[in-house]
Amino acid sequence: MERFEKVRNARTQMAEVLAGVGPATVLERDTSMESIAEQSPTGPGTEKATRIISVTSGKGGVGKTTVSVNLAISMAQLGKKVLLFDGDLGLANINVLLGIIPEHNIYEVMKGRRNLKDIIIPTNYGIDIIAGANGISQLANLSDDQREHFLTGLEDLPGYDVMIIDTGAGVGSNVIGLVMPADDVVVVTTPEPTAITDAYGMIKSIVANRQEKTIKLVVNRVPTAVEAKRVADRLITISSQFLKTNVENLGFIFEENLVQKSIRSQRPHVVLYPGAKSSACMQHVAARLLNREIEQEGEGISGFFSKIFQMVGIGND
Ligand SMILES: Nc1ncnc2c1ncn2[C@@H]1O[C@H](COP(=O)(O)OP(=O)(O)OP(=O)(O)O)[C@@H](O)[C@H]1O
Ligand SMILES: [Mg+2]
Repeated sequence: MERFEKVRNARTQMAEVLAGVGPATVLERDTSMESIAEQSPTGPGTEKATRIISVTSGKGGVGKTTVSVNLAISMAQLGKKVLLFDGDLGLANINVLLGIIPEHNIYEVMKGRRNLKDIIIPTNYGIDIIAGANGISQLANLSDDQREHFLTGLEDLPGYDVMIIDTGAGVGSNVIGLVMPADDVVVVTTPEPTAITDAYGMIKSIVANRQEKTIKLVVNRVPTAVEAKRVADRLITISSQFLKTNVENLGFIFEENLVQKSIRSQRPHVVLYPGAKSSACMQHVAARLLNREIEQEGEGISGFFSKIFQMVGIGND
């Protein structure tokens, strides 16, 4: 079937990246997942496509993994079935953030020792994860059989609403390749000038590959909502001016010591400190990605911050 052929193309690309063989050569724009989204397969006998969201950045250490984990859990709390995939091929650490020691990881799938669905790890937080493995990028030159084994696994995954891919940083081919098959790309930056410059570099690379996609932006570690807006406006303006592309401001996350505290205790932030203002920010970003109305009438911290987001132009559309 044509649809499965398209899924296959996009997934082949992802498999090649995971195998370390793409996409230095796969940088032409791929539209396969876009047309799948347009087809909206809801008829009898057709499976609903999983929405793939890649979380990426130009500079390292800006909070991609923190954002990915907490976004995934927040989406699960909003009723979605979520799979979180550790696509950082250098330093896998989603399992560390969640305090999980995986028995199996993606390396075994690459080597054909296991099926992908056998390495999915359920967590206590309402999401499933696929753990990464350090140093996968050295795993070039998989045989056709090994790659086929990996692909079959991707096609057999049980019906998730959303798959979030936490990528590594930078415009290297491994990262870009995990961004290309995604339906949504979320670029994370901080207000640091170097992070902003590198975020722009990342946006430029994405645009070079998939021009008409709206790239979404999260500004992490901000002291104030006004500072977040300043950073976002700057990136939106230069992207529009020089790249002729729309960047959508998805929201921001406050700098808070509690985030580091939850990382140290290896428990997800939105679970450990649901009332923290940074948690409200993460929930807000998740809701926006799902196009959900954010509770306005609810008093408490969530409603309060929703109003702040609206004041600085990041409210419900
Ligand atoms: N909102 C925040 N408030 C305070 N500290 C934060 C916040 N977000 C992230 N951090 C800090 O930044 C560190 C790096 O975050 P994280 O590992 O999520 O970044 P990353 O972009 O995934 O890094 P890498 O590029 O290495 O994969 C965390 O260990 C944490 O200490
Ligand atoms: Mg990371």
